[in-house]
Order: sequence, then structure tokens, then C-alpha cells
Amino acid sequence: MPTMPLELVPDADLRQRNTLALPARARLLATVRSADDARAIAANPALCREPRFILGGGSNLVLGACFDGLVIAPTIAARRLVGEDADAWYVSGGAGEPWHDFVQWTLAQGWPGLENLSLIPGTVGAAPIQNIGAYGLEVAERLACVDAIDLDTGEARRFTAADCRFGYRDSIFKQEGWHLDGRFLITEVTFRLPKQWAPLIRYAEVERELAAAGLAAPSAADVAQTIATIRRRKLPDPASTPNAGSFFQNPVVDATQAAQLQAAHPTLPCYPQANGQVKLAAGWLIEQAGWKGRRLGPVGMYEKQALVLVNHGGAIAADVAALAKAVEVDVQQQFGVSLLPEPIYLGVA
Ligand code: EPU
Repeated sequence: MPTMPLELVPDADLRQRNTLALPARARLLATVRSADDARAIAANPALCREPRFILGGGSNLVLGACFDGLVIAPTIAARRLVGEDADAWYVSGGAGEPWHDFVQWTLAQGWPGLENLSLIPGTVGAAPIQNIGAYGLEVAERLACVDAIDLDTGEARRFTAADCRFGYRDSIFKQEGWHLDGRFLITEVTFRLPKQWAPLIRYAEVERELAAAGLAAPSAADVAQTIATIRRRKLPDPASTPNAGSFFQNPVVDATQAAQLQAAHPTLPCYPQANGQVKLAAGWLIEQAGWKGRRLGPVGMYEKQALVLVNHGGAIAADVAALAKAVEVDVQQQFGVSLLPEPIYLGVA
């Protein structure tokens, strides 16, 4: 069957393709609508020689002015039930599906399980890369497998959940630098949604909100709605206030350092981890360091959630990097804690 030719755009504008709305261009942009398009890239020696980067929803990205290579944007659209057994539904989404729309669709079909991850920006294909998480759930807990095309060989490769080596905002795709190198292009992600469902209410904030709405036995749709309400209240909408969600990861420190910090700062939120380490709230540290609502040039830390860096208009990548650095230095000086950015920096000096 003849396939459509690969869609290639030279000198492509990426400003609309990153949620921080940074001005950026790519020497070449390829739109990948199917696994065949991915194979067409692998089969093209000139394209294979280009430095490459795979761009999802651009919601976790700091883009420099020009990427001198090939940017690949997967737009693969597909939503289907791929299997069912006594215990679970197996549902897959194409890499280009907007994450929130996909979650809404699963709920509408009567397959709950992803509702705590409502309203997270980005695409289905990007979700496993940084193991998106919110309100007590990480996507790793619902993931069955990830299908990808190896752009070096054109071969299909399936990663099981164990292969993905998930951690907090981490996976093999980050650990091995595969995402940055653009080796594996994720085409489809399959989720395992258990039929035994109970609302996952591990967050006091979610519990309070449900109680206030009088929802003693909430449905998955109620939980989705509640989480969307909380997110809209605290997090800026990229459409009006460009941002990349949490700009820093919550730092994980050893128990001794956490105990010392908590003795000195009793209100510091601490979350003990299974391995004995302790996760600290970066938003709290940043607020205490005086950065909540404070600006540096055209960027600033958001006034309602200090962990979110926002572009107030006209920012370039260097502005973002300068603010991130200033925040990191102040938090390090005041608390002796290192902050790590969550977004990927691409082509930023
Ligand atoms: N806090 C402050 N000041 C602030 C912000 C937060 O004191 O300006 C305190 C809060 O009072 C709370 C604690 O820090 O006690 C944690 O805040 P919150 O519950 O808002 O969550 P977070 O740790 O800041 C994480 C994720 C979010 C996710 C929320 C809810 C990371 C880096 N961020 O934020 O994910 O939505 O939990 O589960 O893990 C994202 O990754 O882009 C993202 C938005």
C-alpha cells in the first residue's frame, strides 16, 4: 500500500510548540503521523545524520533560539481497547494524543484509573518519559507497555513497565539519554486499568475538596473534576501565562539532613520515601527563599505556586536559565539543598 510522503518543514517556528512560549526555530521539522513515518526517517540516510530531538507537547522544555538539526513531532492519533481480562482493561493511546483528552476519553468509556492525572499538559507519548505524576499517582503504576520505533534501525521495540525503570520523574528514556538523542520514537502507550477501582485519595487537599462538594463516595469522574478544579486554582494556564508546570523536581535528601532541616524549619513539608530517603517540597523552599511571585527580567516564580516558573512576556531561554540559577543558588545557600530542573534544556548555552 503506498504511504504518504514524510512531512518535512524547513526553518520551522517552534514558539507555539513549547508551553513557555520561548522563541525558537528548528532547521527541519518532521511530523510523524504513523509508525511508517518513523520508519521513513530511519530509512533516510541524510535525515539519520542530523542531530535530532523528539518534541511532544513541549510542556517540559526550555528551548534555545535555534535547533540546528531535525525536530520530530509525533502526531500519532489512536485510542483503543487492546485487551481485557478478568482483572483489567488494557487501553492504548497514540503518542500524539493530548494527555488530558485521552484521560477524559478513558473515563467516558467507563475505564477509570487515570483520573488523578487529569489536566496534566503534554501528550500520551511523553507521559512515560518523565513518569508524570500528581495527587498520589504516577503513570508508572498504570503502565503496561510502551511501543517505539528505533530510529537507528527502523525496528519496532516494546518496553514493558519493568524495562522502563521508572523512578520519580524518571525513566530509562531519561537515564540513557535516549530521549535527548532521539533514538526511540514512542508510537503508542498501553495502560493497564484495574477493574477493581476505588478512589485514590492520598492528598489531604483532594479529600477536603471532595468533602466540601459533599461527595462522600466519589466516582472517577468526580475525582477527575475535583483534581482539575485544584489544578486550575493553583497552576497557571499556559494559554494565558506561559509556563512548564513544576520547574524543579522536589529534592530527595537523606534522613539525617531531612531531620536537621525539619528541626530548624518545623513547617517544611517532608515526605518519607520507601528507601529511607525524604522528599522535600521545593515550592516551600523557594517561597521561603523569597522567590514566590518575584520576577527577574521577563520571567518570575508564580505567585500562587512558587515551583512554577512563568514567562510574563518576551522571555528567551537565557532569561529562564538565569532565574533558575538564581533560585538554585539562594535555596542552596539558605538550606544546603540542591534543586534540579524538571524540564529538558535544548540548545541553551
Ligand atoms: N508549597 C509552599 N509554597 C509554594 C508551593 C508549595 O509552601 O509556593 C508547599 C505546599 O503548601 C505543600 C507542599 O509545598 O505543603 C507541596 O505543594 P503541592 O501539593 O502544590 O505540590 P508540589 O510538591 O509543589 C507536586 C508535583 C506537581 C503535582 C503536585 C500534586 C513535582 C515536581 N511536582 O508539586 O506536578 O501536580 O505535586 O501532586 O513533583 C509537574 O510536575 O509539572 C507538576 C505540576
